Amino acid sequence: MPTVTVQSYIDKLALRFRQSNLCYGHGTDNAYDEAVYLVYGTLALSFDDDANSPGRLLAGSELCRLDDLVEARLERRIPVGYLVGKAWFCGHQFLCDPRALIPRSPIAELINQKLRPLLERAPRRVLDLCAGGGCIGISCALRFPACQVDLAELCADACELASANVELHELSHRVSVLRSDLFSALAKPYDLIISNPPYVSRQEIADLPEEYGHEPVLGLHSADDGLALPLKILREAADFLCADGVLVMEVGYARQQLSTRLESVPLRWLKFAHGGEGVLALTRNQLRQYEGLFN
Ligand SMILES: C[S@@+](CC[C@H](N)C(=O)[O-])C[C@H]1O[C@@H](n2cnc3c(N)ncnc32)[C@H](O)[C@@H]1O
Repeated sequence: MPTVTVQSYIDKLALRFRQSNLCYGHGTDNAYDEAVYLVYGTLALSFDDDANSPGRLLAGSELCRLDDLVEARLERRIPVGYLVGKAWFCGHQFLCDPRALIPRSPIAELINQKLRPLLERAPRRVLDLCAGGGCIGISCALRFPACQVDLAELCADACELASANVELHELSHRVSVLRSDLFSALAKPYDLIISNPPYVSRQEIADLPEEYGHEPVLGLHSADDGLALPLKILREAADFLCADGVLVMEVGYARQQLSTRLESVPLRWLKFAHGGEGVLALTRNQLRQYEGLFN
């Protein structure tokens, strides 16, 4: 059998990916990074040990395992995160499986910048609303070492995944998982509510590449052109924010519809150096001021 190194496998795989019609919307944006993600993820190689890994020879059993996963990626269009069971967000590793969407929100960049300039001080209480596997709230907890975080999520399976991620990061003393339909099971005021809710319309879901069909539809779909859940969050968030609290919410490509619907509200759309769009910020005072318009 010819010798195959990690690097030669990645190079050939990147070429195959380039020649296929894959969609890269789940943590990478190109064929080479996708190949690295699959190979490093499968072999549990550390990105910190980059000097030794590329030249490492692959054992026969490793080659068979990798080949099987490559076929699943190419033939069944399963996203790499679900194949390797892990994903990275804000530089941290998370458990990842079809109980929740694969982490990819541009909100990661905001968290890395400690939410500056939106927050003037480190938040004491943070709510990650529609938390999925918990990547946003857990990353906040890691960025702000003194804060308490609630992860609120409707789906029981996603709550289980979030709990496993809380355990993975040894944060159970500061991060709680709450099963809640938006704010229904919540009570306390937060300094920061941060949310990546479902915002994709039924028609847009039907048009999405096959990769998205492996993700739970509850994580994607929102009625009323994608706006039903974001508007409900805008209507209710002020009741759960401290006086100087802030809501940060992603609505992705639903930005256009939301801006049109709320044309008299000065929505603050955040800019991202590393790509992504459709994330807005509103203070509690603004939410109160315009609450009559969030219909
Ligand atoms: C777009 S995913 C975001 C997951 C995670 N925050 C992330 O950024 O990767 C939206 C999540 O909202 C959850 N969800 C849907 N409807 C909800 C509701 N009414 N209340 C709470 N969570 C809800 C879904 O189960 C899904 O996990």
